[in-house]
Amino acid sequence: MFITFEGLDFSGKSTQAKLLHEFLKKKKIRSILLREPGGTTISEKVREIILDREHIEMTPLTEFMLFSASRSQLVSQVIKPHLKKGYVVICDRYYDSSTAYQSYGGEMELKDVLKVNDIATGGLKPDMTIFIDIGPKAAFGRANLRGNAKDRMENKNLTFYNKVYRGFKDIANHNKKRFVVIKGALSIEEIHNTITKTVSRKLNLK
Ligand code: ADP
Ligand code: TYD
Repeated sequence: MFITFEGLDFSGKSTQAKLLHEFLKKKKIRSILLREPGGTTISEKVREIILDREHIEMTPLTEFMLFSASRSQLVSQVIKPHLKKGYVVICDRYYDSSTAYQSYGGEMELKDVLKVNDIATGGLKPDMTIFIDIGPKAAFGRANLRGNAKDRMENKNLTFYNKVYRGFKDIANHNKKRFVVIKGALSIEEIHNTITKTVSRKLNLK
């Protein structure tokens, strides 16, 4: 089973992806936890190029192609082989992030993004996408909690993040079967409990 997490920066995705991974380990279910952009040596190098704050000259198309290249490598090298072996693959972001950030938030045409998403992943769709639903103001209010310096993507403005947020909501509405939408304002524990219940049902766990 292939599970992806989506939402704005600081929505709490990484926290929840990690908790789900630990939960599955305790249940003796084989699973791996990945993040995008990243997850392979090549993809982590591409991540550095994308997020480098000095790369202000990067064009929207270059940015989108780099996200897609990183994803393509991750799908071929790690995701597909693990799904074949029966692992639960958990990925912190996947192609819905490109749709939301590069198309709804950025300058790329939606139809082009959807097409390249499909090409980069060989059509591999998540079985379940957990969208942590929290708006930009509330999410960025947590930015100082995490403490790291802002990367190139996090330096974009509130108008951009409002568009990205609307994008995620739209994508969720168009993919109701695959999406699980959870209010990000709930506590870490409440969100985790909803996720474990939904995943356990899908995996037929006791
Ligand atoms: P993301 O991976 O979406 O960027 P993180 O999981 O790194 O987000 O969380 C961002 C910050 O918000 C962290 O400091 C984390 O501890 C905190 N956080 C995560 N989930 C919640 C929550 N449900 N309520 C309050 N704070 C949270
Ligand atoms: P990261 O530090 O992983 O952010 P987060 O913890 O919020 O997931 O940085 C990834 C950044 O890249 C984040 O701002 C979202 C953005 N992004 C895109 O714009 N398009 C994409 O396809 C992906 C995967 C990420």
